[in-house]
Amino acid sequence: MSTSLEPLSGSDAQDAWPDGPVRRGSDAHKVLFCRTLLDTFDPYKPAVIDWPALDSEARDRLVALPIWDIAVQTEGRARLNVASYAAMVSDPLLKKAIELNAFEEGRHKHVLSNLVAAYGIKLAPEPEYKVQGDPEWAFMVTGYSECIDSFFAFGLFESAKRSGFFPEALVDTFEPVIHEEGRHILFFVNWAAWHRRTMPLWRRPFFELKVLAVWLFLIWERIGIARDVGSGVQDNNFTVTGAKQIGADINVAQLIELCLSENSRRMSRYDGRLLRPRAVPALARLARRLLRP
Ligand SMILES: [Fe+2]
Ligand SMILES: [Fe+2]
Repeated sequence: MSTSLEPLSGSDAQDAWPDGPVRRGSDAHKVLFCRTLLDTFDPYKPAVIDWPALDSEARDRLVALPIWDIAVQTEGRARLNVASYAAMVSDPLLKKAIELNAFEEGRHKHVLSNLVAAYGIKLAPEPEYKVQGDPEWAFMVTGYSECIDSFFAFGLFESAKRSGFFPEALVDTFEPVIHEEGRHILFFVNWAAWHRRTMPLWRRPFFELKVLAVWLFLIWERIGIARDVGSGVQDNNFTVTGAKQIGADINVAQLIELCLSENSRRMSRYDGRLLRPRAVPALARLARRLLRP
């Protein structure tokens, strides 16, 4: 797949970076969110990442994290889900951006697989990845699920950094993955806003029902899998349960605070005309208010 980021020219002239205010659902909006993803591509190669040597204590802590199977499988599934939707998109710029998104999910899986191999972490056999439902559904499941996971990953990653759970060298090698997930959720929420405004009016109610169904599915999936915690099965809530493992002295309220500030910090880098993910931060702010003594 091509991921070249040469300046756009000729027939791509309509994809030039928009000036001035941008209306949601307009062509300029599409160009803005697609080019934000494409232009910020980082061409690193997982194969050449030099995994830092860890002392035995740090290595043991890393190996004991109950997240590796689910993390590798989530990336494998994400790549397939996103790629299957890219295949049915006809708009060239949008297609290129979604293909890049899929490429990056595949690369995350490589990074994780290399990390796991470098530190001798044993993985459960991977399942066969299949697209469940139609490609749009699969893309939306991955997109909204990344909105949840990335929000918590931002805070957990920062917490692990501050507590020294991860040595600095390891934090540096992993930062590109976290950074890319931030780009993905920004891209996804803007795609969703653009998509719902550009579809025929009669499709809108079905799309809104689909959005609702995706959220219910994700909640069900997380509750269902949470029941398996304690039975040794790794779960999709790893970004939440991971807090116990890595932030020895952080409580839920502090973690939420950190997630919110990291989310704002990471999202502040991008063009102010783009929409930001709102649902998960809003729920987090509500939780913060309820947790306040
Ligand atoms: Fe990913
Ligand atoms: Fe992603």
